[in-house]
Amino acid sequence: MADRYSRQITYMRISVTDLCNMRCQYCMPEEGVEKRTHEDLLSFEEIVSIVKASVPLGIRKIRITGGEPLVRNGIVSLVEQLRQINGIEEIAMTTNGTLLKSMAKPLKEAGLNRFNISIDSLKEDRYREITRGGRLSDVLEGIETVLSLGMTPLKLNTVVIGGLNDDEVKDFTSLTINEHIDVRFIELMPVGEASQWAENRFISNDVLLEKLGFLLTEQRENGSPAQYYRLPGAMGRVGFINPISHHFCHECNRIRLTSDGRLKPCLHSNDEIDLRSVLHQPASQITKVIAQAIDRKPERHQLDQDERCTSRNMCQIGG
Ligand code: GTP
Ligand code: 5AD
Ligand code: SF4
Repeated sequence: MADRYSRQITYMRISVTDLCNMRCQYCMPEEGVEKRTHEDLLSFEEIVSIVKASVPLGIRKIRITGGEPLVRNGIVSLVEQLRQINGIEEIAMTTNGTLLKSMAKPLKEAGLNRFNISIDSLKEDRYREITRGGRLSDVLEGIETVLSLGMTPLKLNTVVIGGLNDDEVKDFTSLTINEHIDVRFIELMPVGEASQWAENRFISNDVLLEKLGFLLTEQRENGSPAQYYRLPGAMGRVGFINPISHHFCHECNRIRLTSDGRLKPCLHSNDEIDLRSVLHQPASQITKVIAQAIDRKPERHQLDQDERCTSRNMCQIGG
C-alpha cells in the first residue's frame, strides 16, 4: 500500500527482543534495558498473525531485528513459520553475528535468505571496548560461516564514530575485495544512548567519501537506504547510509514492529500504534490497523528538532 506521500510500503522490520548479549556503548546503557515480562513480548503466533495480515497491504520483505534476535528462544522456528506465509518473498536478519557460527545453518535451512551483521571495529581490543566485552573472533567466525553457506551478498554495518573507529574505514573497505561482502558505513544518529555523543563524534559520510575517492558509482539499490560504490575489481560493494547528511525518507519503504507489539511508522518518531488490542480480532481488523499506521507515516524524520525524536533506545526499536 502507498502512504500519503506515495511511498510504497513493502518492508516490515520486526524486533523480537530488546535484549542483547552485548552492550554497544552507543546503543544500550551499561546495565542493559529492562527485561520485558513474558506477557509484554509478542508471541511467535502473534507475530505470524501480524505478518499474515500485512500481506494484503503489500508487505513482501521481513527483517528480524532486536536487540539481538539470536538471543530470543526458538528463533529458528519463527523463521520456519514466516517462510510458510504466502506473499512473503524475502526474510532477512540484522544481527551482531556473535552466535552465527552455530545458528546460521539452521536459520538458512528454516528459510532465512540473508544476514546483515553489525561490526564496528576489526581490532580485538577496540571491539571489546565498543561492545563492552564482546569477542571479535566470535563475529569473524560468524561471518566465515555465513560466507561458507553461500548466503551472499553479506552486508556488514559499521557505525562510524569520531575518535573511536574512524581510522578503520580503509580496513573495512578491504573486506569487499575478495568476498561477496558489502560494507556499509552508517552515520551515527542521535538516538537513545547516542544522543549525547552525536554532536562531538558525528562524522558525515561526505567526509569519508571524499577521503576514499572511489572509482565507480553504482545504481542505488531498490528499497535500500544505502548509496553504493565499488572498489576497482572488488567482489563486494562499499555503501553509505546517510540518515543525517542526506536523509532517504522520501524513499522510505518500511514500518517497524516492536517486540512489545507496537507499530512504529517511523524510526525517529514517538508515534506508535498498539496492535495488541486487535490481535484477537479477525485478520481483517489487524490489516485495518496496520493500514492506519502506514497512513500515519510522517513525511520525514525531524532529527533537527530533537524534541520530536523517539524516546526509545535503538535496541528497543531494532535499528
Ligand atoms: P537491506 O535490506 O540489506 O538494505 O537492509 P537495511 O539497510 O534495510 O537494514 P539494516 O538493519 O542493515 O539497517 C542498516 C542501518 O540503516 C540501520 O542500522 C539504521 O541505522 C539505518 N536505517 C535502516 N532503516 C532506517 C530508516 O528507516 N530510517 C533511518 N533514519 N535509518 C535507517
Ligand atoms: N546510529 C546509527 N546506527 C545505529 N545502530 C544502533 N544505534 C545506532 C545509532 N545511534 C545500528 C547498529 C546496527 C543497526 C541495527 O543499528 O550498529 O548495525
Ligand atoms: Fe546489541 Fe546491536 Fe545494540 Fe550492539 S548495536 S548492543 S549488538 S543491539
